[in-house]
Amino acid sequence: MMKATSFLTSLLFLLSLNTAQGAPGWKALTNDEVHDPTSPAIGILQEPATALALLPSDTSGNRVSWIRALRERYIQPRTNIYPETEIKVLDMDIIMELTGEMPLVRFPHKPHTEWLDCDNCHDKIFIEKVGANPVNMFAILAGEYCGRCHGAVAFPLTECNRCHSVDRATFTGQPGAQPEKKVSELIN
Ligand code: HEC
Ligand code: HEC
Ligand code: HEC
Repeated sequence: MMKATSFLTSLLFLLSLNTAQGAPGWKALTNDEVHDPTSPAIGILQEPATALALLPSDTSGNRVSWIRALRERYIQPRTNIYPETEIKVLDMDIIMELTGEMPLVRFPHKPHTEWLDCDNCHDKIFIEKVGANPVNMFAILAGEYCGRCHGAVAFPLTECNRCHSVDRATFTGQPGAQPEKKVSELIN
């Protein structure tokens, strides 16, 4: 088991070096391999470089800190389509300890629930109970659990330390659900 973990760590480390080097900017719509470059509409659409450069920057993924963009009100997306939808922000961290030689994982509910509904994760991606989900790095890399979004619509999996952010040696609390904090302000 230890061997497999070390192998995985080295592999992922190499992968992260590789992507950190050739960090691309925003591709033009005509060569992003998503839009049809011959479409007459191509000139009407705003270029990503024009739209995204105005937002707070990040060092990876699509180079935008979406958490700051929301909190600092650069963008104010609608929170609900139906008026009866209840908006809930939960400020509760989960500390996950099955991380081999890597630092512990801190999953913060707060930034996630500023963007997402509980239903987006519970119970389809995660059963709402600490320890009830066999989360591991191979499954994440295969697009399960955190990997459903990270590496797709949220920051990429090469940013190890954004998830593995808690030093095992200095963490004195209990792993699992941390005490819930009061949310003082809802965004929007
Ligand atoms: C981005 C995904 C995501 C969203 C959105 C989300 N959660 Fe969670 N939740 C998790 C994860 C991950 C765990 C930990 C699961 C584990 O340890 O296996 C968890 C665990 C929990 C737990 C269990 C705590 C315990 O003591 O066992 C509760 C309760 C919970 N969430 C409530 C909520 C509520 C309420 C919302 C909406 C306000 C919400 N969650 C939104 C991912 C999410
Ligand atoms: C349903 C989608 C979804 C899932 C599943 C998900 N995340 Fe996220 N996560 C996001 C989005 C969206 C953001 C905000 C955009 C960004 O930072 O890229 C985010 C941001 C974060 C942040 C940054 C918080 C900050 O304050 O900067 C951390 C850490 C994080 N996620 C960890 C995890 C971990 C660990 C898991 C699995 C246990 C997980 N996420 C599962 C969507 C998800
Ligand atoms: C989106 C969040 C996220 C990112 C990014 C991430 N991890 Fe993980 N990692 C996890 C979670 C969650 C676990 C499982 C923790 C648990 O179940 O207690 C885990 C577990 C692990 C483990 C334990 C062995 C195993 O197979 O699960 C290793 C080793 C590991 N990660 C290495 C890395 C390395 C190296 C990187 C960067 C290249 C990385 N991780 C990036 C969330 C992440």
